[in-house]
Amino acid sequence: MKILSLGFFVLLTLILGHSGATLATERKTPIAPEEFLKMKNPVALSPEVLEEAADMYKDKCVKCHGASGNGKGSATKGLDVKPRDYTDKTLMAKIPDGQLCWIILNGSDLDTTDMEGYKKKFTEEQVWKLVHYIRAFAP
Ligand code: HEC
Repeated sequence: MKILSLGFFVLLTLILGHSGATLATERKTPIAPEEFLKMKNPVALSPEVLEEAADMYKDKCVKCHGASGNGKGSATKGLDVKPRDYTDKTLMAKIPDGQLCWIILNGSDLDTTDMEGYKKKFTEEQVWKLVHYIRAFAP
């Protein structure tokens, strides 16, 4: 009897594990073109730049990326793929400035993330300021 229930448990775990794997949505973040990936932030970092970016961030980004940058904003509940945690230093070290900038300008995969592109709303210079702001979550 014990062995039977153990067998059942294993089977159940396999079934649940499997359906979990097929339900989970894969992250499909587009990769920026090479010339962007090698770019350094052309805007000099200053308190004024961070202040200006803070206003844009509060206005357009905080509802998803969160006030602390942890990606747990109120508007992320229905999203299949959540924003990354920008307070995670190890993770952020792997994402080049140009990749951050390019996704803010052009957006990510809209089917799963609702991360639209902002090139109609912000200039490229403003977006580089936002990149500074995002970097400041994991100093
Ligand atoms: C509706 C929710 C939502 C809003 C609003 C939003 N984002 Fe996002 N954003 C996301 C999600 C979800 C992702 C993850 C996309 C992915 O992994 O492909 C993302 C990805 C990103 C990325 C790509 C970095 C990475 O994780 O690879 C950057 C940079 C970014 N967002 C910045 C911003 C900025 C700046 C704003 C405001 C101008 C903003 N986002 C507004 C949901 C949002």
